[in-house]
Amino acid sequence: MKNKITISDIQKYKDTQVPLSTITVYDYPTSLIINSLEIPMVLVGDSASMVVYGYNNTTPITMDELLLITKSVHRGIDRALIVADMPFMSYQPSNVDAVKNAGKFIKKGGAGAVKLEGGVEYLERILKIIEAGIPVMGHLGLQPQSILKESGYKIQGKSLKEALKIYNDAIALDQAGVFAIVLEGIPHELAQIITEKISVPTIGIGAGKKCDGQIQVFHDLIGSFDSKVPKHAKKYINNYTIIQDVLENYCSDVVNKKFPNKTNSVAMSPAELLKLKKKIENI
Ligand code: KIV
Repeated sequence: MKNKITISDIQKYKDTQVPLSTITVYDYPTSLIINSLEIPMVLVGDSASMVVYGYNNTTPITMDELLLITKSVHRGIDRALIVADMPFMSYQPSNVDAVKNAGKFIKKGGAGAVKLEGGVEYLERILKIIEAGIPVMGHLGLQPQSILKESGYKIQGKSLKEALKIYNDAIALDQAGVFAIVLEGIPHELAQIITEKISVPTIGIGAGKKCDGQIQVFHDLIGSFDSKVPKHAKKYINNYTIIQDVLENYCSDVVNKKFPNKTNSVAMSPAELLKLKKKIENI
């Protein structure tokens, strides 16, 4: 059992100016790989809605669907801080819903913190969850759960009005006691200003390199899909074609009777086989 990373360990990254790399994760085998590395924090993101469950955006995924995968991540990780993403409509309706659902991720899912999207409009929800003893990570800038309201994914904070709103939201969240803030899809200059202003780490995705840390969607990094990754991401490997090749080879081995071979099978002893054959003849 390794030493579990706490939220004060996460703060140390900002205090000592060591960039913090974090990643989304949604299943047990990937969690085991992450567990073998020095990654201090993981997010069971509601991006699972698209990359795991195949929905069009993050609004359909439910508490049950996210809880299920959070549990599997928890079984594979004994060091990194696990942050669970609160899905659309799990916290928006009321403070009570927010605290109850955040609690489910801790008690049933094994998470150590939750993340939710929104600025001052959701300050009360954030305060109530923190009051209940659950660490919260904020999420400002491009908020994928607002896709219906915004009619798509749009970079935020390019105008003075939008930038000021994000800046003020970041200060309000910091003062409310969040332990970190994800800054998504905002100009790098704004991310830098916020990072220098607030006391807790900023975790950027499409927000430039001046954030205290970076987060990426796992499937973008490993090229799980046969499509281009977003501008903010980097495809380190094209797993889609690698897996396609593997499966093609497997199918062709089966068709050509190359698989399974002797090493993949077990044999009976010749004496037992003979006895079996004789017995069958007499039936
Ligand atoms: O759900 C997710 O993957 C996220 C990250 C993009 C921050 O919220």
